[in-house]
Amino acid sequence: MAENQSVLTSTDNEIQFYDFHPKMSDFYSEVVEGLKTEPKKIPPKFFYDETGSRLFEQICQLPEYYPTRTEQQILEDNASSIAQIIGDHHYVIEPGCGSCEKIKLLLDTLKPEAYVPMDISKEFLQESAQAVSDEFPWLDVHAACVDFTEPMELPFCPDEARKLAFFPGSSIGNFEPSLAQKFMQHVLNLVGPGGGILIGVDLKKDEQILNDAYNDNAGVTADFNLNLLARINSELDANFELEHFDHHAFYNADVGRIEMHLVSQKPQQIKIGEHLISFESGETIHTESSYKYTIKEFQSLGHKAGFNPIKVWTDQDDRFSVHYFEVPQA
Ligand code: AVJ
Repeated sequence: MAENQSVLTSTDNEIQFYDFHPKMSDFYSEVVEGLKTEPKKIPPKFFYDETGSRLFEQICQLPEYYPTRTEQQILEDNASSIAQIIGDHHYVIEPGCGSCEKIKLLLDTLKPEAYVPMDISKEFLQESAQAVSDEFPWLDVHAACVDFTEPMELPFCPDEARKLAFFPGSSIGNFEPSLAQKFMQHVLNLVGPGGGILIGVDLKKDEQILNDAYNDNAGVTADFNLNLLARINSELDANFELEHFDHHAFYNADVGRIEMHLVSQKPQQIKIGEHLISFESGETIHTESSYKYTIKEFQSLGHKAGFNPIKVWTDQDDRFSVHYFEVPQA
């Protein structure tokens, strides 16, 4: 057994666990660098501390936030057709799997040879992967704690195995389109010739629906956005006053993305570690972009990355899309 490999066992099931010891990004230096940039920005990956992850789970339940339930419905309604087109007995790889909830909708029809959930958060990954194994005892589970954006190999995937990447939730929307294409190329190299990717992508649509989804009535998205400042205060010795910043989210049609910002209500200075940061009244920190695509736009992006677009599933109202792409045989 490799040095980084261990076997986890619950009452009736065991999973293989591989710890690649992903390097945590440097929260402090990335935040300070972002706050010293014009215009100010902080990467969205820092939303997800424990409180942030809990708030995101709540967002997914909101009446205004249609993506999660729409994608789930698409996967449920089309589980057979998806499996028919993709085939079975793949190694299914899920980068950034989180709670591993969505793959469960496909396991009975997709009948993979193995499931390979990957996440940077070790304890959460262990729990989620174990839960999948307990619910699907016939399934071979290899969980890898890894930063999937770094170059890597999949030592537990036999070279000749067909590989399918699963990337739901429109997480791809957080990337600028050129980086989204790079990410797709990275996935292409991971799954190799004959492999594929099943990916969820939020669609361009009526702007009111988009704006409502990121400006819910209950204010959960605002709490999620502001929690970033609370997290910076508690982890990085900063003194943001949350009551003097507003959540601002809007669809920017020129670039096809939702933008989330935190807006300073007044001129103010905050301290973070050794640094002082000044805000003018109305100045913002750009905390997230969430790109929306038409079906054609995303197929073309995948194609430029080297994939063949094979099939797209959508809901009745064309709110969300699930794409399947394949890597041409060598
Ligand atoms: C997890 C990136 C897909 O962009 O819709 C939800 C995050 N931010 N509400 C999205 C999010 C505010 C979400 N993604």
